[in-house]
Formats: sequence, C-alpha cells, structure tokens
Amino acid sequence: MTHENKLIEVTDLKVSFYHESGKLQVVRGFDMSVEKGKIIGILGESGSGKTVSATSILKLEEDDVSSIDSGEVIFKGLNLMELSESELRKIRGNRISYIFQNASSALNPFKSIGKQLTEVLKNHKLAFSKELVLQALVEVGIEDTETVYDMYPFQLSGGQNQRIMIAQCIISRPDLLIADEPTSSIDASLRKIVLDLLKEINKKNNMSIIIITHDFDVAKYLCDRLVIMYGGLVVEEGPLNEIFANPFHPYTKELIVCAGSLKKGDEIVYTLEGSPPSPFEFADECPFAKRCKVRLPECTSEIPRTLEISGRKVRCIRYEKR
Ligand SMILES: Nc1ncnc2c1ncn2[C@@H]1O[C@H](COP(=O)(O)OP(=O)(O)OP(=O)(O)O)[C@@H](O)[C@H]1O
Ligand SMILES: [Mg+2]
Repeated sequence: MTHENKLIEVTDLKVSFYHESGKLQVVRGFDMSVEKGKIIGILGESGSGKTVSATSILKLEEDDVSSIDSGEVIFKGLNLMELSESELRKIRGNRISYIFQNASSALNPFKSIGKQLTEVLKNHKLAFSKELVLQALVEVGIEDTETVYDMYPFQLSGGQNQRIMIAQCIISRPDLLIADEPTSSIDASLRKIVLDLLKEINKKNNMSIIIITHDFDVAKYLCDRLVIMYGGLVVEEGPLNEIFANPFHPYTKELIVCAGSLKKGDEIVYTLEGSPPSPFEFADECPFAKRCKVRLPECTSEIPRTLEISGRKVRCIRYEKR
C-alpha cells in the first residue's frame, strides 16, 4: 500500500475511561489504514474495543469521561487528534460520516424527509437544493422521490427509513463512511438490502467504508481488508481473502471456525469456550492466552508486539519464533 493511496491512517491509538477506581485503558493499541475506495471491516467479540476505537478517530467520546492517551489519526494530511473542536466539526458528518451502533432513532420524527436531508447540507455549509436531496434519495434506491421528499419517517417502512438514514450520511459526499453494526438492529430481510446499498455506494462514489461487525459473513460479503480486535488490541490485519485462506492469529482461526459452524444449521456446532477479558482484567500478557489452544509459557509474560509478515500484521508471539 503506497502512502499516497491512504485516505486515513491511525497509529497507536490508546483510549481510557475514568472509573470510580481510576483510569482504565480499554483500547490499548489500535492501528489501521484505509485506502481510497476500499471497504475495511473491524471484527471482534463484544467489548473488544471496536466502537471506542472508531468513535475516538473523530474524538466523539466525551472529554470528562474518557481520554485519548496516545495516537495519531492522519486524514488527508491532517492529524485529527490535533484539531480543535470547531475544526473537527467541519470534518464530522461532512468528510467522514458515522452511522452509530443502534442508530434506529437517527431520524427526527417531526420533520419531513426533505427538510432533514436539506438540513444536513445546510449544517455543513454546503450548497443545498431540492434537486440535490432528490438525487441522494435516488442513490439510496428510493422510488417516487418527489412524494417521499414531503413525507415523515412514520409514513415510511423500516426499509425506507434505513435508506433515508444512509442518505443522510452520504448526501455531503463524504470521503469515508464509518458504519457501526449497521445491520444488527434491523430485520434479517432488510440486512441484505442495507449491505447491497453500502456496496453500491462504495463502487459508484468511490467512497471508503469502515464497517464494524461481529458477523464474519457481513465482513466476507463487503470487505477488502480486515482488522481483527481482541482485548483492546488489533491482533491481526490484512486482506480479507488471505485472512480467510490462512488466518495467522489463533483467535482469528477460532472466529472463522465458529462462523462456519453456525451455518451448518440452527444448532450451534462449535463455540469458542470462555469469554474475552474485561478491561479490569487486562494484564501485560496476550489477552487471548487464557482461551488459546496453542498457548506457550511466554504468552503470559508480555503483550505481544505487532509483527509484519508478507504485507499482513499479526500480534502473536508464536510468529516471533519463526
Ligand atoms: N462510556 C464508557 N464508559 C466506560 N467504559 C466504556 C464506555 N464505553 C465503552 N466502554 C468499555 O470499553 C470497552 C470497549 O467497548 P466497545 O463499545 O468499544 O466494544 P465493542 O467492541 O464495540 O463491543 P460491541 O460488539 O458490544 O459493540 C468495553 O469494556 C466497554 O465496557
Ligand atoms: Mg460496539
């Protein structure tokens, strides 16, 4: 990957929350980059730090409850970590849009669709017109756009509202869309529609996408590259096809086996035993060591560093030995 192709590059991001007992680091090492026009998936079990890493890229976590302990986020030559709140506001929702996890209420029930979409453009001081709004509605597959323009969310189906929500995120023509579990709170019947829509927008507008998911099938359907998280750390990164064909990290291997076994029917054939560590249990060791079937004695003596192997990254001590 050449540097010029990188739209955003995140290096050594570490994020803590303040608790009664003090400060607790929940993201301990998050690195990723996104090339223009590519779709990157962030995968990992619940609590691994996917959402906090993504929201911290845009400094969306509240200052009084959290702190960014380290990290550089270079977006189109600017380090977002060094920008003021007013400078960041020009980027959020404008150059980088964010579909929040459980965002079913992102639409205002009291405003017409046309008004809500126009407001996005106005808020970002972009040119606005009815024509631009109608065009965005066409792009997300809304038929009869003139009628929908004057309608309210309650008059539309769940599927149409999902499309409008995506229109809200893409009407400013962002360079990057971050979609946090965009299909987890919607009916199975709508899931494919939303995924297809994201795929289409990515292709047509050459818009990069970061999709956060715990569903390997979603990742497989959409992504060019994957970032696998565990215990607040990126444990593996690389092209989707290569990771599927030959996962490096023992955790990634387990995730792939689990995803495959779920498809064999309703009965869960294979699950990964145990649960991921909570940040209160984080220690200077590999966070996966307790569940790892190929653990070595050294795995609990330090946090493994990230190794680069044939253009891929893995954080596992076993690869140091090769
Ligand atoms: N506002 C907060 N205050 C304190 N701790 C938080 C806060 N938000 C998240 N955390 C903690 O940070 C860790 C990472 O959370 P995060 O939401 O990033 O996980 P995730 O990988 O997105 O999980 P999920 O798949 O459930 O969405 C978790 O241990 C979580 O409890
Ligand atoms: Mg999350």
